[in-house]
Amino acid sequence: MFETYETLIHGLLEKGFGSVDHWLSSEELVGLRKSLLLRYNDDLFHSAGIGNKDNLQMIKKIRNDHIYWLDAAIANPCEKEFLQKVQGFVNHLNQTCFAGIHNFEFQYAVYEKGSFYKKHVDRFMNDNKRQFSLVFYLSEAWNPGDGGELLLYSDDMTTTIQPIPGRMVFFRSDLPHEVVTSNIQRLSLTGWMKSI
Ligand code: OGA
Ligand code: MN
Repeated sequence: MFETYETLIHGLLEKGFGSVDHWLSSEELVGLRKSLLLRYNDDLFHSAGIGNKDNLQMIKKIRNDHIYWLDAAIANPCEKEFLQKVQGFVNHLNQTCFAGIHNFEFQYAVYEKGSFYKKHVDRFMNDNKRQFSLVFYLSEAWNPGDGGELLLYSDDMTTTIQPIPGRMVFFRSDLPHEVVTSNIQRLSLTGWMKSI
């Protein structure tokens, strides 16, 4: 995984985001998609909110996806494997970049057709622990015209990321970004690496 980690880090340092397309093997990707869909079909997801517990507002005009927080204690083998790879990345970041990451959290997200998440940052106004954001795409397939692209805004340009299954994107949690309206069911696993 060393090269994968380095590609993500160098991308972030050089252009503001890192991206790799083979974070998991195709078997692991299929397993994780199945895990997401099992939990979704068991009605374990809920409407995503904005902000954290002190100022949770359900504003469907800003985001209208559905989420499920991964819980390491009840994670299945596919989910554990994913979380272990993230832990490997955290260790690498801390050792090579003194990133000071203490823990991380992940949620599955399902964007049904017509869902979006308007421009935002992932760092809360009243809690700046989120340092880095990771988004891993899990849809069955993605083709041009399917929508649901991730837009990353820097001072002078906007980058469009296609949510291709198996792709992992890595950026600072204070970078403004947006998910444009998806025209298909869009599946992902999104997480945050946090300082103390
Ligand atoms: C988020 C988010 C981006 C994506 O969940 O905060 O911005 O591409 N997700 O799913
Ligand atoms: Mn976000």
